[in-house]
Amino acid sequence: MSAPSVWLITGASRGLGSEIAKAALKAGHVVVAGRRGSKSTSQTTELESLGAKWINLDMKAGDIETIIGTVEKDYGHIDVLVNNAGYGVGGTAEDLRISIQTIRDVMEVNVMGPIRACRAVIPAMRQQGGGTIVNISSVSGILSFPGVSAYSCTKHALEGFTESLSKEIEPFKIRTILVEPGSMPTGFLDTTLSAVTVPRSEPYRGTIADVVLSAAAGGELVKAHGGSPVLAAARIVEAVDRTGVFADRDIGLRLPLGKETQEIIDWGKDLAKRAEELQDIAVSIAV
Ligand SMILES: NC(=O)c1ccc[n+]([C@@H]2O[C@H](COP(=O)([O-])OP(=O)(O)OC[C@H]3O[C@@H](n4cnc5c(N)ncnc54)[C@H](OP(=O)(O)O)[C@@H]3O)[C@@H](O)[C@H]2O)c1
Repeated sequence: MSAPSVWLITGASRGLGSEIAKAALKAGHVVVAGRRGSKSTSQTTELESLGAKWINLDMKAGDIETIIGTVEKDYGHIDVLVNNAGYGVGGTAEDLRISIQTIRDVMEVNVMGPIRACRAVIPAMRQQGGGTIVNISSVSGILSFPGVSAYSCTKHALEGFTESLSKEIEPFKIRTILVEPGSMPTGFLDTTLSAVTVPRSEPYRGTIADVVLSAAAGGELVKAHGGSPVLAAARIVEAVDRTGVFADRDIGLRLPLGKETQEIIDWGKDLAKRAEELQDIAVSIAV
């Protein structure tokens, strides 16, 4: 077991965040768990009984930096920040045009919130000589599927931000891990929780976007690819602690988790092949 450290996990009220909190507690760490409001559920009560300390942290609110400052003061330091809170938006780009605010809102929670949280923890991590930032992205941070352009846009933005950031803070011994899960059976697709879907307009019925969105809503995607949030959480904690599967294995920036990883591999090969094929044309603009 590695030395106990202080973990701040956003969106820990349920789903993957709750499982990461449980796995971190099991590994002996101190867990400060973020949730919106103070409503108790069976999951929040269970986490509390395992030792998690709740804080009210809405990733869309204006006080993220202040709340993180209070955690640093109360616990002395934050060793690991897990930016997990996030939600999905389904709907074609044209249909989402009727509600541009829906796109702004998800950018705020999935991108601006994590950016603000990272910026809030870095100064103290730099001064204490290290720390780890885990940003939960998605397979949709690399591949874009029809029908989820708004969500994909947020996770691509988080990937770009995190890749740059990782190189900036590596000299200060702050590690960055970008987790790219595939489908998992959490509340992620549940529109009675945080997920949002915009109905398909008539021209899109029967198109590929409609097929993908219907398969997601009908649970077929999760059935075909679904990974376990419990096992994903275990891998994430092992990656941070360099234990378990990562005891003697290097963990770089990206941690893909799920069967969809094969699609990322194929996409990477295709990208490299296409760049090679077009290299003569690409360099033809050199002066
Ligand atoms: N499940 C998947 O298939 C999948 C795949 C790839 C990536 N991911 C990513 O994994 C992460 C966790 O999602 P999940 O699968 O565990 O979904 P989930 O079960 O719906 O959990 C989402 C969590 O985010 C919190 N949240 C939503 N909006 C928030 C806000 N404004 N401020 C603070 N917390 C907020 C929710 O809190 P409330 O209880 O207050 O709503 C909940 O705790 C997300 O970043 C998601 O994009 C999920």
